[in-house]
Amino acid sequence: MSTSVKPRLAVLASGRGSNLQAILDAIASGDLDAQVVGVFSDKPNCAALQRVPEPLRWAAKPKDFASRAEFDNALGDALAQVQPDWIICAGYMRILGADLVQRFAGQMLNIHPSLLPKYPGLDTHARALAAGDREHGASVHFVIAELDAGAVIAQVRVPVQADDSAEALAARVLRYEHPLLLEVVRLAVAGRIAEQGTTVTVDGHARFTPLRLDCDTLSLRV
Ligand code: GRF
Repeated sequence: MSTSVKPRLAVLASGRGSNLQAILDAIASGDLDAQVVGVFSDKPNCAALQRVPEPLRWAAKPKDFASRAEFDNALGDALAQVQPDWIICAGYMRILGADLVQRFAGQMLNIHPSLLPKYPGLDTHARALAAGDREHGASVHFVIAELDAGAVIAQVRVPVQADDSAEALAARVLRYEHPLLLEVVRLAVAGRIAEQGTTVTVDGHARFTPLRLDCDTLSLRV
């Protein structure tokens, strides 16, 4: 297959970019049949951008725009230009406005480090510890305008240990975020998942509970 017909992924990131790197590595090793056509950021100096060649980078500082809508328009135009099949928010720390979400409805995925609907927003690991949770994890969901609230496609559950710090728990979850995200992206590029209202369909069938990553095989139970 020539590169030009491979499914096109745009990745939004604001920080370290380990999830982006997992995607790049899986493509390089032939474990993911797709291409990254752009990495987009609200943090021009972030490490994630450095993981791809310069022509694939787009970054702008929100403070250089008169309003959130103007920033979102610029980001949306840049995204549209690369004609993505899927847009993956992988550690993108800025809220996406409703118009931008609408523009790419059904094409945007986000990875969030909690067992949604628990702990949308920030500091998820510390919040799980403070609540005394025995299990924590990560979710991949369709993006809607409400923060971390779209239909959840898949989750991984990770045990919380008695002496966990937020950092130790975050590291344990991150290890499984990468295979979780990859598995969902594989389903996405194969055309196997879709958003139908507030529900996820897999192979055309509505799923009312998230798919689950098996932590031993690192594959989804579909
Ligand atoms: C991950 O924990 C992701 O779930 C969250 O932000 C973190 C990003 O990590 N949304 P990285 O930039 O992919 O290393």
